[in-house]
Amino acid sequence: MNRFLTTALLIVAAFTASAKDYTLSTPNNTLILSAEEGQTLYFRYYGSRAEVADIAATGRMVKYNAYPAFGTNCSAPYAALVKQSNGDNSSKLVVEKSQLTTTDHLTTLSVWLKDVAHSNLSIKVNYSAYDDCDIIKMNAEYFNNGKKPIVLQKYMSAVMPIQSDNCVLLQLEGTIKDEVNESIIPLPAGQHNISTTTGSRVAHYANASFMLGLDGRLEEQSCPVIAGTVVWMGNSHIEFYNTPAVQGVPTLVMGGINPSASDYTLAGKSSLTTPEMVFTYATNGKGEATRSLHRWARRHQLLHGTKTREVLLNSWEGVHFDTREENMTDMTRDFAALGGEMFVVDDGWFGNNPPRDNGKTTLGDWDICKKKLPNGIRPLIDLAHNNGMKFGIWIEPEMVNLDSELYRKHPEWVLRHPDFEPTYGRGGGQLLLDLTNPQVQDFVFGVVDNLLTAYPDIYYIKWDNNMTLNNAHSLYLPTELQSNLYVDFALSLEKILKRIRAKYPEVVIQLCASGGGRLNYGFMPYFQEMWTSDQTDAYHRILIQWGAMNFYPSNMLAAHVGSAYSKYTQRLIPIKFRFDVASMCRLGMEMVPSKLNEAEREYAARAIAEYKVIRPVVQQGELYRLVSPYEGKRDFSSLMYVNEDKDRAVLFAYRHLYKYAMSNVIIRLQGLNPDAKYTIREVAPEVAGKPVAISGKTISGRTLMNEGIVIPELVKGYTKNAALGDVRAGNDFRSVILELTEVK
Ligand code: DGJ
Repeated sequence: MNRFLTTALLIVAAFTASAKDYTLSTPNNTLILSAEEGQTLYFRYYGSRAEVADIAATGRMVKYNAYPAFGTNCSAPYAALVKQSNGDNSSKLVVEKSQLTTTDHLTTLSVWLKDVAHSNLSIKVNYSAYDDCDIIKMNAEYFNNGKKPIVLQKYMSAVMPIQSDNCVLLQLEGTIKDEVNESIIPLPAGQHNISTTTGSRVAHYANASFMLGLDGRLEEQSCPVIAGTVVWMGNSHIEFYNTPAVQGVPTLVMGGINPSASDYTLAGKSSLTTPEMVFTYATNGKGEATRSLHRWARRHQLLHGTKTREVLLNSWEGVHFDTREENMTDMTRDFAALGGEMFVVDDGWFGNNPPRDNGKTTLGDWDICKKKLPNGIRPLIDLAHNNGMKFGIWIEPEMVNLDSELYRKHPEWVLRHPDFEPTYGRGGGQLLLDLTNPQVQDFVFGVVDNLLTAYPDIYYIKWDNNMTLNNAHSLYLPTELQSNLYVDFALSLEKILKRIRAKYPEVVIQLCASGGGRLNYGFMPYFQEMWTSDQTDAYHRILIQWGAMNFYPSNMLAAHVGSAYSKYTQRLIPIKFRFDVASMCRLGMEMVPSKLNEAEREYAARAIAEYKVIRPVVQQGELYRLVSPYEGKRDFSSLMYVNEDKDRAVLFAYRHLYKYAMSNVIIRLQGLNPDAKYTIREVAPEVAGKPVAISGKTISGRTLMNEGIVIPELVKGYTKNAALGDVRAGNDFRSVILELTEVK
């Protein structure tokens, strides 16, 4: 049963005591604003769901300028800074009118603010609340009603005053093969920023998301938390102010487009809509905040977010550019024999002048490589189908190499300054195409359109992007609009994606940016999943997947089993651990299956079959984090998923490195029905028919949650499993997956 259905009926967004106080509520959150005509728009409250009178009585209401502009209180943080054509950059915003609208699951308050100093400027700020998940979102629309251009120098989406002077911040940082590391720090005094600056692979280095624990702690199951994320394909910026003296509330968060190098010239009679910034408030810790974001993502933001995703084999880590027909054919057959559901040909399948044999050439020439695939890709598609599988293919359509037919024909299509040598990307010869150029937009659309027209039975596309926007100069935009580029690049990409989705609403498209470089919800209305990381070391991936899942749900995150030896960390990790780590998200494989020995093949087939059994819970269940790999001794981690009815759950437990005589951890489960009894079953034990001791036991949800379990096998120094060869000789990397099924 959907436990939000009943509450959803109670959701109202209504005029309250004062006709100009607006209350927007989700099932468990409330936002209050005052919008008196001719006055400043005031933010009053955001927190747990509450009656206005109660909140007023508690003294928890604030009266903070909900959308401050530079000009009236210049030392305080401002959301808007607009330069008029005569150079005046002061504004005073007052409410002109306000309006409530309700569409499916969403109630929106729109408030039009007019600049009393400049009649040409008005800003519409929008606040929306969902009735089926605890998410509110904010954004702003800037209108230049005059004839002359104006320049938006700061144009934030959201302003969130917080009545706590003791916040603890969770943020993510990382880079290629080391994405989204979680760090938790006291919110620094003064100003702190999370800014993304790379223009295209916008989630490398920083992620435009945060969580704040409000009472001096940020815990999993208790303490109030506000989490937020900027939903934008371009550079984002979140500002935190921890300086009550300046701003009148202890803490302030603002977020939206990164204004750095992005003065946006808005022509007369035109407008710019800023991206949405999404927030959730949780009374019971960051676990609840995560689940609210995941629920929203699956239902409202991630394309086809409630559909089951296939187990696939991607050719990249197995053969890299060597996508010869023979290799592809073998991999397809071998993966089908393991129970695979899709084969994806990665980079290397295209180009003839020269063929794409390495990362230095040929991007832009999307014709099939005759040398490697003399019979084209039709036989590969048919072979996949004949083996009961689907077929997918890789592209990197926003890019070009100097050594390509495309560049020779259209050198003017790239982003670069005309007067000096650009900074090149991968291989020293890669450049980003100038997506602001309509001809380039047609070309990029055509890459997808041509493929899907020629092969309508391509089920899946991997859309890669391996270059940052290093050369922020457009040969298409006029000089005076160059600082619009970061924003216009993102808007142009969105335009292309909308066009693709209008024609191809169903094709599954995975987003990739050298791994998880585009982990941002702004992309996700157009993509069904994201390649989380190129990191093939399963232990390393626990940290990455854990970091990502603070904000992004398991079914959005692709996780593939690589070979035993990870060339990126030079660690050997046994096959069971590798499968158990990848199985916490959307499972796939990325290796040459024929290189597995017989015992490993047997294990892989069993693990894939078992994943299909637990998949509905893993891909759609609610996430509960039990033991963090980032905390404590860091030698264990554990998490679980529980389905909506709480009658099925799947628990993942990992012991990382081995230490002699190490003690076990108690894993206290969460999210179960305390009154239900659950039978436990080990999923895909290392040796078939020999599960861990707890498998087969029936225990109440209450005891599982209050007392927890220990899995002694996890701390044992194992005897060698000869069948799995040298990889099994070490004691590191033990893992167990348990399925819990309610006894009815
Ligand atoms: C970077 C991606 O992250 C990899 O998975 C792979 O697709 C390569 N690009 C191909 O060049």
